[in-house]
Amino acid sequence: MPAPLRQPEPQRIQQDLQDLALLRDPDLAGWSRPTFTGVERESRRWVAARMRATSLDVHVDGIGNLIGVLPGQGAGGKAIVVGSHTDTVEGGGRFDGTVGVLGALEAVRLLEESGIKLRHDLRVVDYFNEEPNRFGLSCLGSRALASNLSPDHLATVDEDGATLAEALQSQGLDPADIPACAWSANEVLASLELHIEQGPILEQQGAGLGVVTAIAGIARLRAVFKGRRDHAGTRPMALRQDAGCAAAGTVLAIEAIGSSGADAVGTVGEIRFTPEATNVVSEEALLTAEFRSSDAGWFGLAREQLEQAVERESRRRGVHGSVLWLPPEPPTAMDPRLSELIGRSIAGLGHDFLRLYSGAGHDAVQLARLGPAGMIFLPSKDGRSHTPEEWTDLADIALGVHALAASIVQIDGWEP
Ligand code: GLV
Ligand code: MN
Ligand code: MN
Repeated sequence: MPAPLRQPEPQRIQQDLQDLALLRDPDLAGWSRPTFTGVERESRRWVAARMRATSLDVHVDGIGNLIGVLPGQGAGGKAIVVGSHTDTVEGGGRFDGTVGVLGALEAVRLLEESGIKLRHDLRVVDYFNEEPNRFGLSCLGSRALASNLSPDHLATVDEDGATLAEALQSQGLDPADIPACAWSANEVLASLELHIEQGPILEQQGAGLGVVTAIAGIARLRAVFKGRRDHAGTRPMALRQDAGCAAAGTVLAIEAIGSSGADAVGTVGEIRFTPEATNVVSEEALLTAEFRSSDAGWFGLAREQLEQAVERESRRRGVHGSVLWLPPEPPTAMDPRLSELIGRSIAGLGHDFLRLYSGAGHDAVQLARLGPAGMIFLPSKDGRSHTPEEWTDLADIALGVHALAASIVQIDGWEP
């Protein structure tokens, strides 16, 4: 008869969430810990200390993943992997990613206090740089684990022409160390990520927890428009080569393309005009955007329509437009057998759950390349996320941590 699993202690989770929330850039809105900043490095030192205090053996790999290991009692080489990220978008909230890392630490405490000894190693990971960085790339840490951080990714340039490889070097990370970070497919028994939903469905349906079926594919791009700088008062409208207007037309096209698929979305997250002056016709404009969908086939169409829109909006204004696509990420299914197990674990605790699709991207996409991957979602108040208003009730976080710990115990019983 296995030992019963203890209930989480919400105040411990709350304390950790509060302490980590103190580590934020005071000059930015909300709770900001962007990668490649001092505050993000400081927060990861804090997480490492919390991992050690939770009796994990901690190391940092060559890309910067923080990995805490709870050694198993010896059941072959495979490990159970849990975790998420603690970097944030600028002006983000306190829950995106952090509940998955701090919740995993509470799950470890529950296992220990319940006297449950796992057969398999448990790896708790704070994945490096999950949110898109200034190169437009996300999930650097989990990509490296899954051998999906390629020379193409490393050659991606930021607006100033610096490469991602150079940015990593400036942080004391050596791109040559990246291949050695890779985990092999036969060392991961299963991976689990606890995360807030970041959307409205669980709250609308009154469901306490969600089990994720699949995660959206993402295609990101940068479009640059080169026109001609002119005087805003004297240059007649018909004679302008206004790069800003070509970009603006493309923004509306992206809205239309994003509205053309069942669960597709299209977003322009950034737009810049050069110069930024009220009385000057823009010489150059830059926008970064992304499309997401659960339908792999839809992306080909979206790509074609976007390129046509850039061409159309540029040509009619005598502007030169170009598009750079970043390496895309396909839609990713979570493992059905693992999702069943998670559902049974939640039901075993006496709770209901909803199966749902994730429009948000997650490290679980990369982990799915290495073995069965699954996710547990928690309700987000008003479906808000990537904003300081992001909120998830402590009771729901505790429920999710309990489900995470119960799922870990069940996975440990799987035959390798
Ligand atoms: C991550 O938060 C994403 O979905 O962009
Ligand atoms: Mn996020
Ligand atoms: Mn996240």
